[in-house]
Amino acid sequence: MNVIGAPLSRVDATQKVTGKAKYSAEFKTPKLAYAVMVTSTVPSAQIFNMDKNDAERATGVIAVITPEDALKLPGAESRLTVLQDAQVHYNNQPIAIVVAEQLHQAQYAATLLKIQYQDEPAKLDFIAGFPASYPGSHTGIPGDMSFGDVESGMRTAEVKVDQIYTTPIQHHNPMEPHATMAQWDGDHLTIHDATQHISGVQKTLAKTFGVPNENVHVISWFVGGGFGCKGEVWSHVVLAAMAARQVNRPVKLVVERPQMFGPVGARPQTYQHLTVGATRDGKLTAIRHEVHAHTSMIEDYLESSAFPTRVMYSCPNVATIHRLVQLNMGTPTYMRAPGVATGTYAVEVAMDELAYELKMDPLQLRLLNYTDVDPHTKIPFTEKHLRECYTQGAERFGWSKRNHEPRSMRDGSQLIGWGMATETYPGKNLPAGALVRLQPNGRVLVASGSQEIGTGMYTVMTQVAADVLGMSPSLIDARLGDTDYPEAPISAGSMSTASVGPAVQQAAIQVRQKLLQMAIGDAHSPIYGARLEEADFKDGKVFLKSAPGKSEPYSTLIDRNGNPAVEAIAKVKPQLNQKEFSCHSFGAIFAEVAVDPDLGMVRTRRIVAVYDVGKVINQKLAHSQFTGGIVWGVSLALQEDTAVDPRNGRIMNANLADYHVPVNADIGEIDVAAIDIPDPKLDSLGARGIGEIGITGTGAAVANAVFHATGKRVRDLPITPDKLV
Ligand code: MOS
Repeated sequence: MNVIGAPLSRVDATQKVTGKAKYSAEFKTPKLAYAVMVTSTVPSAQIFNMDKNDAERATGVIAVITPEDALKLPGAESRLTVLQDAQVHYNNQPIAIVVAEQLHQAQYAATLLKIQYQDEPAKLDFIAGFPASYPGSHTGIPGDMSFGDVESGMRTAEVKVDQIYTTPIQHHNPMEPHATMAQWDGDHLTIHDATQHISGVQKTLAKTFGVPNENVHVISWFVGGGFGCKGEVWSHVVLAAMAARQVNRPVKLVVERPQMFGPVGARPQTYQHLTVGATRDGKLTAIRHEVHAHTSMIEDYLESSAFPTRVMYSCPNVATIHRLVQLNMGTPTYMRAPGVATGTYAVEVAMDELAYELKMDPLQLRLLNYTDVDPHTKIPFTEKHLRECYTQGAERFGWSKRNHEPRSMRDGSQLIGWGMATETYPGKNLPAGALVRLQPNGRVLVASGSQEIGTGMYTVMTQVAADVLGMSPSLIDARLGDTDYPEAPISAGSMSTASVGPAVQQAAIQVRQKLLQMAIGDAHSPIYGARLEEADFKDGKVFLKSAPGKSEPYSTLIDRNGNPAVEAIAKVKPQLNQKEFSCHSFGAIFAEVAVDPDLGMVRTRRIVAVYDVGKVINQKLAHSQFTGGIVWGVSLALQEDTAVDPRNGRIMNANLADYHVPVNADIGEIDVAAIDIPDPKLDSLGARGIGEIGITGTGAAVANAVFHATGKRVRDLPITPDKLV
């Protein structure tokens, strides 16, 4: 059996479905106290008075911590300067914390605080903020980048699309809300945290509280969904640690669902002005993509919507521009395919509009502008097989049977539409470490300071170690989510497999080597005296390649040698030279929708997508990731929309009933496949990552299908019935 690529079920599946998998809020410890955050009810103010007498007298209350008596945080920055002053920057900002013996006691006491604000002017009008907007960057990459000469490219254009596309604020809603349990022992802090980045939590808390990194121990065995909102450290983590310090007891703080809307990030709203020029025969001559996105008053976060425009098509003249607009809202953050999801929507709808202007098949237009090199840098891609994705996707979907005319297809009273889009996401990785240890009991420990955010990290680590060691995955024990293990990067950016996988692989190779050396140097071993290349290790046994009968279990070997730890720690750095190669995943997605012409209701009936993501490490997990991403894309196109009260910045649908995400009935059939061609230039596994690409083209494919069904172009997401009727 080939373990790499196999559709192995999650090794943690049983733990998850039986409730044995332990999430951060489920840990218990003696003397545990419960903390509840009190949040602001105005968007911009000075807290002028906070009367906590009643709250402090309530049953079970241990402490009520306000800006007046909060611990001073020596190293806190920006949003983590929480309770350090009386300033309110957004509605729902944490402004006090109540600690009690029981959760319900803390919740009740929190309602007894009497807060008086001195209101200040609030910036809540996105468009009105455009004149004061300013440039920004995303993960160090500048927001403004151009190549060629867009003005002259636009002059030579015979056909143009010039439109505004907008996307709303969205809030991540993982099933597991953010949760932190903090305990101090002297100057040592132990934290159980629902996070995508344990070492980030470690370093940030160490700096915030002014203690060395090694004094902070972060544990996170399972995370019930992250999607970007658990990538950074937010104020509640600091508040839990602060409260634990101030009451001198372990403290648990679980963010309440309405508090998920503001203090822990969001996808910012975007206003995207796209101008696309082409010749009459469909060759792109210029693209200008200008993005306005909101950020908070205290920090810059840039939704990099024009980034995909830089790599998608062969076009000699491209300008990408981003502007940040400050609002009295919580700081936005990464949300599944940050920038790429919102930006691909805009570009791929603009391409569809261009196809209609040209009376050309939308897939034909993409093929006509296909690029084999990065159009910006002119360097080649590590691997790019998008052409195969288009061909296979179109074939599986039956695209050739499409009638290009809008409103040309019906099923009874329903209008049927077919739309397509290109998908893309950067391929990248970061330095990562892993430990592999052969244990005397015949099992193998594999450990890395990575995270399991629902994507299958335990399983990938298991598969890679099993592959190198030639052992059954059932003999591998994968461990992660503990800062005592070798450091690994944030679980984000679709890069965990391409980062942690190679580290596990390296450590396993080294362990194998050590074991064989021990065997050939041991006079009692059946392969004593062999040369290294004559020996091998498989199924838990060392053996001689020329005479496989000469073998023994590795546990016997190490037992005879006094049970030394046969282990290795590998630290692997990214190997790709980014000056030589551009690394991106691509895909093609096709959608069929049915629209009720009277009610404006849209159903996605069928979605087909084919991806080029490098080597697929686990067919089953990959299928789940692609499917999950597509469901997110349908949500982007048709449902998700955070509604903000323009008078006070209050979020009006801060709950799972009013914040709409798809249910099964909204989704229909999803058919996904991957080309599965390895990309060895990025990493030794040849995997590029699969967590985010699924959302990227879906919004546009669905929006384009809605236009094809109805003849009505909605450029303002989500496409709700009121916009169609
Ligand atoms: Mo993802 S939004 O990069 O956690």
